[in-house]
Amino acid sequence: MNKKVVVAGGGVLGSQIAFQAAYCGFDVTIWLRSQGSIGRTQPKIEGLKKSYLDAIKLMDSPSAEANWCRGIADADSFDAKKCEELVEKAFSGLKLELDLAKAAADADIIIESVAENVKDKIAFYTALAPLMSEKTILCTNSSTLLPSTFAKYTGRPEKYLSLHFANAIWKNNTAEVMAQSETSREAFDAVMAFANDIRMVALPVNKEKNGYLLNSMLVPFLLSGLDLYVNGVSDPASIDKAWKFGTGAPRGPFEIFDVVGINTAYNIVLQYQKVPGLFSPLLKKMMMPYNFKGMIAVFKKMIDEGKLGRSSGEGFYKY
Ligand SMILES: NC(=O)c1ccc[n+]([C@@H]2O[C@H](COP(=O)([O-])OP(=O)(O)OC[C@H]3O[C@@H](n4cnc5c(N)ncnc54)[C@H](O)[C@@H]3O)[C@@H](O)[C@H]2O)c1
Repeated sequence: MNKKVVVAGGGVLGSQIAFQAAYCGFDVTIWLRSQGSIGRTQPKIEGLKKSYLDAIKLMDSPSAEANWCRGIADADSFDAKKCEELVEKAFSGLKLELDLAKAAADADIIIESVAENVKDKIAFYTALAPLMSEKTILCTNSSTLLPSTFAKYTGRPEKYLSLHFANAIWKNNTAEVMAQSETSREAFDAVMAFANDIRMVALPVNKEKNGYLLNSMLVPFLLSGLDLYVNGVSDPASIDKAWKFGTGAPRGPFEIFDVVGINTAYNIVLQYQKVPGLFSPLLKKMMMPYNFKGMIAVFKKMIDEGKLGRSSGEGFYKY
């Protein structure tokens, strides 16, 4: 089942999805729109080969537990040599194709991972629709756009849904599988099974929801912590401690902001301010109490001072 996999787009995530599926033994083709894209995707695939091999080395060392990559192997059946062979096989087996008709022919599953832009995605689906065989299941990896926006352009709304991955797929191996109202149960189940087959932890999202599961919980949590700070209720370290010591969680909101990076955090706040309730319908109702002006000012000042989080050595904390 699902032997021929096509990934459309070879950017940050497209190349990772393709590499992971090839690592798990699937016949994988990346469709790219131009010769220029080939030039940009090839180094990404070489980089992924190195990332997987480096990860396998760490998994084979005394610090294995902290560095375990569940997308690569299970701890109880790990065999470094075998994993390295799979990486080599994935690397040499991956195909790049510019002709969409050739790429799509006979595909079991096509995963669209082109730019996060409605117009580009509609143009892609419109071109692809007449080229797919009857059996093909079509998925989008979109982070913020809902599949119902595109279903009518696919020619197969009953076989169209979201399959959303996290960045650094070999380590952060969740796959959120989200149906839109016309998706058939068979297609949903087949994509859940496929996600498991490529070593993801498949998480069902039975109806459409901006932010899927993780961001629907994470973003309101982060904003609530930040709101306490910008309103002068308490300081970042105390707010983090309240969360960690009160629940046993490993990180508080400000430690998470530093990992995510202040630029991304700033963009999330801007996006929320424009579209209240983007990820959580609950937030729409309680939007006004949030001090967005204060949040934006805090992040803007940090960005101007080069305090971008862990990556720059300082964010809310010093590293
Ligand atoms: N980057 C992430 O962390 C992340 C995580 C999960 C999901 N996603 C989703 O994955 C998708 C791709 O994101 P990315 O980060 O890989 O982006 P990216 O910019 O790195 O790559 C986009 C790819 O799409 C191609 N492309 C751009 N416009 C196109 C068009 N008009 N027609 C055909 N191909 C086109 C580019 O050549 C490139 O190969 C988006 O929908 C994004 O929301 C990204």
